[in-house]
Amino acid sequence: MKLITNPSDVTAALADAEERGPCRRVLMAAPDYFNIESAINPWMRNAEGELNVVDSAKARYQWDTMARAYRDVGIEVQVIEGPPGLPDFCFAANQSLTCRDASGRQIALLSEMASETRREEVAHFRHWYKAHGFTVVDCPPELRPFEGTGDASRHHGRHAFWGGVGPRTGLDAWNFVAETTGASVIPLNLPDPRYYHLDTCLAVLSPRAALYVPAAFDDAGRSLLAAGFDDLIAVSNHDAANFACNAHCPDGTHVLIQQGSGQTLEALVKRGFTVIELDTSEFMKSGGSVFCLKQELP
Ligand code: ARG
Repeated sequence: MKLITNPSDVTAALADAEERGPCRRVLMAAPDYFNIESAINPWMRNAEGELNVVDSAKARYQWDTMARAYRDVGIEVQVIEGPPGLPDFCFAANQSLTCRDASGRQIALLSEMASETRREEVAHFRHWYKAHGFTVVDCPPELRPFEGTGDASRHHGRHAFWGGVGPRTGLDAWNFVAETTGASVIPLNLPDPRYYHLDTCLAVLSPRAALYVPAAFDDAGRSLLAAGFDDLIAVSNHDAANFACNAHCPDGTHVLIQQGSGQTLEALVKRGFTVIELDTSEFMKSGGSVFCLKQELP
């Protein structure tokens, strides 16, 4: 129910946090209108500075394949449909943060998107959560920006989040999340604009293991992470740029990850994880991969 900012408090805070089970359901947002119309993060332009161009049919195929991969490992996939005119709608990690509070209620905390081009997405998620029995909580507008689980990585097994503080979410928003959900939040500064969301540089794999991009954090952040995980796996620059840290491990066993991160794959296999490689190349052109194409549902 508080922000944890001192590394010496991390172990106790995680041990004291309420227990939570593995992820069994995800929400994915249909990619029908996915496109790149402006650049709101550094990944959205090519080396010449032009906007990347999306192949819509390929994006649809990649999205369908990812949904099938979740179902194949026993995760239920729910789908929210979006309207035309919202090109980033498919990044379902960003419009909200969901969890169960102490009394077991399903909470959906709605985001206050940083970019104007994404603000209208949130109303569609509000509608979906209300129709599906969630208690919906709006982020107070003065706490903008807050981009939900784009910046929140759940600590496996616990009602606790690692919270990115950077261009998409401010520290005040984390105080609000901690108060509203009763979860402990460990804030991590994100000084590098390429790692604009926490889910581009940290992937929690189990209660003790995580993938991370060391250069994406400051010293304070690296100390907090070292206190939280016995097995902190640094990914190479190559794999970081290949969105290896946008992997998702729903259950402590399976890791769904962008294909082509050989070193990371080896590190995961060595530790006994079952790795499921996916091709999310069309979505990487927009600055996202597996993790941000879904929302965990509690
Ligand atoms: N183009 C989207 C944006 O900049 C990509 C979002 C990817 N989401 C993520 N959590 N990394 O907002």
